[in-house]
Amino acid sequence: MKITKICCIGAGYVGGPTMAVIAQKCPHIQVTVVDLNEQRIKDWNDPNTENIPIYEPGLSEIVAEARGRNLFFSTEVEKAIDEAQVIFISVNTPTKTYGKGKGMAADLKYIELCARQIAKVAKQNKIVVEKSTLPVRTAEAIKSILDNTGNGVQFQILSNPEFLAEGTAVTDLLNPDRILIGGDTTPEGEEAINALVDVYANWVSKDKILTTNVWSSELSKLTANAFLAQRISSINAMSELCEKTGADVNEVAKAIGMDSRIGPKFLKASVGFGGSCFQKDILNLVYIAKSYGLNEVADYWEQVIIMNDHQKRRFSNKIVQTLYNTVADKKITFLGWAFKKDTNDTRESAAIYVADDLINEQAKIAVYDPKVSRNKMLSDLDYLETRTGEENSNALTILDDPYEACKEAHAIAILTEWDEFTTYDWQKIYDSMHKPAFLFDGRNILNAKELESIGFIYRGIGS
Ligand code: NAD
Ligand code: UDX
Repeated sequence: MKITKICCIGAGYVGGPTMAVIAQKCPHIQVTVVDLNEQRIKDWNDPNTENIPIYEPGLSEIVAEARGRNLFFSTEVEKAIDEAQVIFISVNTPTKTYGKGKGMAADLKYIELCARQIAKVAKQNKIVVEKSTLPVRTAEAIKSILDNTGNGVQFQILSNPEFLAEGTAVTDLLNPDRILIGGDTTPEGEEAINALVDVYANWVSKDKILTTNVWSSELSKLTANAFLAQRISSINAMSELCEKTGADVNEVAKAIGMDSRIGPKFLKASVGFGGSCFQKDILNLVYIAKSYGLNEVADYWEQVIIMNDHQKRRFSNKIVQTLYNTVADKKITFLGWAFKKDTNDTRESAAIYVADDLINEQAKIAVYDPKVSRNKMLSDLDYLETRTGEENSNALTILDDPYEACKEAHAIAILTEWDEFTTYDWQKIYDSMHKPAFLFDGRNILNAKELESIGFIYRGIGS
């Protein structure tokens, strides 16, 4: 089977960049990305591709090249499903906020809606690809909905999880470590797997395209995120011990990372990991383990989240303690609000929780982030429901200029590792601040010695 038409449901951080790269690399395939969110589709279609709704280095250029040629963004979900041979489901699968599994399980309502819509519309056989991150055995539920509510056509369900990281989505998609495709072990299943392999083989070498059964593929995604997050919580746990013992966590990370069995990546101590995936996927894993009665497995992985929450809280506590146990009415400037550099995404960003803690202590927070909008920051805080929207907007000032943001601050806290922060005129910033001038580097990106020689009281993580 030769794929010529692909539809992707969900034009978010995964659907948008993934489909843009498929379209760029496969000019012979028509790719249509659909979403219920009209504004989001309008933004993807903005004549100026600098205004597309997701900021990722290199993405606007790819969209400019492929959009209108073989890449389309649309709200006509049913039409796109009807025309496509392959339908990717890339909708959100957030943590449930209600009912059974509240706060733990993945909310699959958007996935089920997609399955029902595909079943209703499809008049020919289709391959349905799980691109969203899903609990292991979700393909069974999707298959049951498709077979029981469909028009008698055949569906093959594939699991093809996405491993891109935000901020590097384009390079990750162009040069993936691997592509994982899980499917049925029947001849029809294998045919569907091969059809999808052929799409990726347009730019990914075959030895990097791994095929497995569906359940291994679904579970590998949750496992990969759990292992990655576990490394961060492990090094963050050590950072606290370093602070007590005179060890330096950067030196410890370097020393252990040179062991080829451990490796150097993902060992950067920080204010805590954020992003839409790690916490959600580990909570989901914990929930799945518990549902099978595997309590030790569940407790083991839950500790990764407990440690991360502790690390975020420890950072805000340290600010309060260092500022003589009171931050009431003091201006504290945040450099960075995004959950990591090179993205405008703020989901689960440590900055939100640190700000919330400090506002509880009646601090005045000023924020500068090169890519995050004012509305986004305020809605992140409002979402916590700690206080009214009006109280949040009184406590948070958002500025477009980092020097303005730091003026007359009692302390600066680095929450995101944006490169530009390392290039600032720190003497100028120091001169404009209240003294003593405190600097809390939640990302260990600045040079402690240089800052201390200017006069800052510098506190990094884990030293
Ligand atoms: P997102 O919220 O940015 O995008 C999801 C989009 O789906 C939204 O625009 C929403 O309007 C749309 N949608 C929801 N239901 C729909 C429906 N029935 N019909 C049409 N559109 C619908 O989410 P995301 O960050 O792109 O994540 C999507 C999935 O990919 C999640 O399962 C996530 O765990 C997984 N994932 C995310 C990343 C990441 O870095 N963000 C990486 C790997 C995997
Ligand atoms: C993650 C996975 O890396 C990716 O494979 C998956 O598809 C989606 O989830 P993402 O959340 O976009 O990607 O970014 P990632 O680079 O993993 O960073 C997650 C968080 O961990 C960020 O807040 C980052 O600052 C933090 N982090 C990362 C650290 O604190 N230390 C590190 O060493 C690495």
